[in-house]
Amino acid sequence: MNNSTSAQIIDGNALAAHLRTDVKRRAAALAAKGVTPGLAVVLVGENPASQVYVRNKVKGCVDAGMHSVLERYADTMTEDELLARIDALNQDRTIHGILVQLPLPVHIDAAKVIEAISPAKDVDGFHIASAGALMVGQQGFWPCTPYGCMKMLESIGYNLRGKHAVVIGRSNIVGKPMALMLLQQNATVTICHSATADLKALTLQADVIVAAVGKRNVLTADMVKPGAVVIDVGMNRNDEGKLCGDVDFEGVRQVAGYITPVPGGVGPMTITMLLVNTLEAAEREFAA
Ligand code: GUN
Repeated sequence: MNNSTSAQIIDGNALAAHLRTDVKRRAAALAAKGVTPGLAVVLVGENPASQVYVRNKVKGCVDAGMHSVLERYADTMTEDELLARIDALNQDRTIHGILVQLPLPVHIDAAKVIEAISPAKDVDGFHIASAGALMVGQQGFWPCTPYGCMKMLESIGYNLRGKHAVVIGRSNIVGKPMALMLLQQNATVTICHSATADLKALTLQADVIVAAVGKRNVLTADMVKPGAVVIDVGMNRNDEGKLCGDVDFEGVRQVAGYITPVPGGVGPMTITMLLVNTLEAAEREFAA
């Protein structure tokens, strides 16, 4: 380690804990009025990573004083059977948010299933109605991971107006909604992807970089302007099997002004924003 200045770490665990305290308070207030916010999590098949994710989502809900049911089905479940379950959950007054864990088995059309979820209960923000609402700035549900990234920027008091934000990755779940959220806050936004000709030339101009590719060392110290804010959405394993992000953390932290670690950065924020969306869904229904 040299003596150069080091970036401030944006602590996702601490921010998540802080936000969850507020969720818990609001959930209790709503429960006192007779409405306990409820999330249904649907898992089809035996994907080991998915099993861990859904357990954490249900636990997050219960810890926040909300109601949560986990529906697990064998990978022999048909598309029609799943659509029938979604329909029942759409009608269920105790359920305010519905989340179908992805990936689904290949014989089930994930797009069709997502579109079957009532937009009022689409707490993942994956429905076309939610994507459209984000695009035109109307009320909907924001996808949890980019929403969490925005909360991290907010937590350091960062004003995006007129800043150049570079998003690396163009997925429907992170890259594209991330770019729209940054744009809504008046940043000038560049979206980079696998066909981008000169990634480094663009990231070197960036005041904010969000790396959401799913590949190690996509962003290295030579690609970062001194003082830039670096948000790492990646979840990868290094050669030793340890969790790491898309950013070369040890290198980039010597150059950046702020950086999010992996683990303990964006990860804990994603479930937190799911809780926020579920609470919000229940509050909206109560107000309606
Ligand atoms: N699979 C991986 N991440 C997610 C997520 O955020 N939501 C859902 N439904 N499935 C996922």
